[in-house]
Amino acid sequence: MRILLTGGAGFIGSHTAVALANAGFEPVLFDNFSNADPDVIGPICELAKQSVPLCHGDIRDAKTVENVLRTYECEAVIHFAGLKAVGESVAKPLDYYDNNVNGTISLLEGMKAAGVKTLIFSSSSTVYGDPDQLPLTEASPLKPATNPYGRTKMMVEEILSDVTKSDDAFCAVCLRYFNPIGAHPSGLIGENPNGIPNNLLPYVARVASGQLASLKVFGNDYPTPDGTGVRDYIHVVDLAEGHVKALQWALGKTGWTAVNLGCGRGYSVLEVIRAFEKASGRAVPFTFAPRRDGDIAENYADATLAKTLFGWEAQLGIDEMCRDAWHFECQRQKD
Ligand code: NAD
Ligand code: UD1
Repeated sequence: MRILLTGGAGFIGSHTAVALANAGFEPVLFDNFSNADPDVIGPICELAKQSVPLCHGDIRDAKTVENVLRTYECEAVIHFAGLKAVGESVAKPLDYYDNNVNGTISLLEGMKAAGVKTLIFSSSSTVYGDPDQLPLTEASPLKPATNPYGRTKMMVEEILSDVTKSDDAFCAVCLRYFNPIGAHPSGLIGENPNGIPNNLLPYVARVASGQLASLKVFGNDYPTPDGTGVRDYIHVVDLAEGHVKALQWALGKTGWTAVNLGCGRGYSVLEVIRAFEKASGRAVPFTFAPRRDGDIAENYADATLAKTLFGWEAQLGIDEMCRDAWHFECQRQKD
């Protein structure tokens, strides 16, 4: 069964392509390469042990989406494509609404024209905002986002809910990712942001490897055990497996569902630094800096629903996440 992966050449899409192939699906990748390198297809095919088609196209072009869905006779879509940098979304809100919201609308138009009615969407725990209570379940209140990126995730979830109400054969699953990190254990695919990374793990990896001098820990006065921010980090390989299980569940179902994908436990920034030092055998020098605007103290998932519905739960812990992120960083530097 062929599955279209929009944004399939990106960080999470590439790992999901491998996981889908290994589960017996045939992934078809669709990407405009705004944040990916077409050469990633080599390692994807190697890890997938099959030839994986990679189509160059933009989700904002409904006709092309329709053509690709028809040509490959895809039966479902996993929708990763979009822009994801929170700070950039504040500076360039229209790009974010255009790519993430308009892009999803034209993707849905292309799907409608091709008669494809199953969609798995990359949402984010950002829809919960600053939580009143932890852990976060899917019934926890959604809070207005503090930035355009977060608002696009909220809007797309609502659009998908309306679409399932208008078409009782449509199935939309919004997967609310917590903090995906790590890389494939082969070191062949991983996260490779351009420029100076915004997110913790890629930054830590570059400090450990000596490309950046020191990490700024944003805030040590949060109401958390060591004062630094706590997040539910999840290995990207576990996350990819979560998409396979979500897809297997969704095929043949209808309606709108939101499901958390997290490990269900939080780690502080200092705990992540220590785990990375252990995994890499390198020091990660840091200084404390003021809190970053828009950051929250703590979030972590209750991941029970994913287990109940999909039979999925995360298998890998922080040590494996740091080990594989470090391995990928070492490979990246060799290239
Ligand atoms: P990524 O940037 O590595 O992957 C996104 C891919 O989409 C890229 O390959 C990019 O080239 C492509 N793309 C962007 N706009 C496109 C368009 N208009 N048409 C076609 N392709 C387009 O990001 P990722 O980390 O793999 O994230 C995938 C999805 O998961 C995104 O929607 C992101 O918002 C969401 N998400 C990511 C995280 C995270 O921490 N990485 C957390 C929560 C949610
Ligand atoms: C961020 C986004 C979130 C998005 C996710 C994945 C914000 C407010 N949230 O999550 O919407 O889905 O990325 O792209 O940007 N930290 C440091 N020093 C650094 C970098 C981070 O101390 O140089 C800390 C942060 O304060 C936080 C933790 O590390 O406590 C994780 O940060 P990060 O990796 O950026 O992820 P989030 O902020 O949780």
